[in-house]
Amino acid sequence: MEKILITGADGFFASRFIDYYRYRYDVTGFAHRQLDITDLNQTVKIIKESNPDYIVHAAAVSDTTMCQNNPELSQSVNVRGAVNVAKAAEACNAKLIFLSSDQVYIGNAGQGPYKEDDEVNPYNIYGMHKLTAEAGILELMPRAIVLRLTWLFGLPERNKKINSNLVWNIAKSMMRNQPAGFPVNDLRGVTYVYELIENIEKMFHLPGGIYNAGSENDLNVHELAKVVFKAMGLENRIEPLLLKEFRDKPRDLRISNQKLKANGVVFSSSETAINKCMADFSFSLKQS
Ligand SMILES: NC(=O)c1ccc[n+]([C@@H]2O[C@H](COP(=O)([O-])OP(=O)(O)OC[C@H]3O[C@@H](n4cnc5c(N)ncnc54)[C@H](OP(=O)(O)O)[C@@H]3O)[C@@H](O)[C@H]2O)c1
Repeated sequence: MEKILITGADGFFASRFIDYYRYRYDVTGFAHRQLDITDLNQTVKIIKESNPDYIVHAAAVSDTTMCQNNPELSQSVNVRGAVNVAKAAEACNAKLIFLSSDQVYIGNAGQGPYKEDDEVNPYNIYGMHKLTAEAGILELMPRAIVLRLTWLFGLPERNKKINSNLVWNIAKSMMRNQPAGFPVNDLRGVTYVYELIENIEKMFHLPGGIYNAGSENDLNVHELAKVVFKAMGLENRIEPLLLKEFRDKPRDLRISNQKLKANGVVFSSSETAINKCMADFSFSLKQS
C-alpha cells in the first residue's frame, strides 16, 4: 500500500483527508503537537522515519488576520516551516503537495479569473508568505505540486475542526435567526473541501509546478450566499436575512482551473458544489 504523510493533521482539511483515504492508503497524520514544522531537525527526522511516497503539506497559520497581526509567526510557519517540509520530502524522495492559496492574487490589478502564470502582487502577509513559500519549495524541488486553493467550505463533523467558511457561517447565522451580510463587490471561488480531497489523489502524478485548485464561478459573495440560502431550503428567508455589504476595496480573487482540467482534474462550479455539500450532509434548515 502506498504511504501518505500529512502535516497539520488536526486541521480542517487534514482531519477530513485522513479519514477519507484511510482504507486506500497507509495514511499517517502528524498534528502540531507531534511535529512542529518550524524545527528543521525534527521535521527531517520524523518524515524520514515515516518514509512516505507522498507528503501533503497542510500545516499552516491559515488565519489571514492572525498572520497580519503576527508576521514573524507567519514567516516561521508558512515560509520556513513549509521549506523545512520540502527539505524533508527531498531527503526521503517523496512527492510533495503544498497547499497554497488564491490570496497570492489579492493585489492583482486586472480582473480574474487568474491563470497560474499571471503576475501576482499580494498585499497581505498571508498571501506574500504563501508566495515566498511556493518559490522556496519549487526551487528546492521542481517536481513538487503547489496548489493555489480557493476558500474551502464544509460542515461540522465529529472530532474534526471546523473553520470559518461560507456555508457554515450562514448556517450559524440562520440557527441564531440573525441577519447575515455579504459583500457584493467581492468575487471569488469557493470549493467544497471533499471535492478537493477526492481530487488530491489524481494530482499525485502531475508534473511539478503551480496549479490553481478549486471551483470557478463568476458570482459575487452575496450571490453565492443566495445559492447557500436556497440550498438550505431558506429561499423565503433571503429577503429579511441576507444583507448586502460593500468592501472598502473591491476584491477579485477568481481563479481559472483550466490547467488542472487539461491534466484531467476537474472541479464543479461553486454553485454545484454547494448543492452537493448539502446533499452529502442531508442538511436543510427548511421549516416544515
Ligand atoms: N481552509 C481554507 O479555506 C484554505 C484556503 C486556501 C488555502 N488553505 C491552506 O490549506 C491548508 C489547510 O488549511 P486548513 O483550513 O485545514 O487550516 P487549519 O484548519 O488552520 O489547519 C492547519 C493546521 O496546521 C497546524 N499548525 C500550525 N502551526 C504549525 C506548526 N508550526 N507545525 C505543525 N503544524 C502546525 C495547526 O495546528 P494548531 O492549530 O494546533 O496550531 C492546524 O491544525 C493550509 O496551508 C491553508 O493555508 C486553506
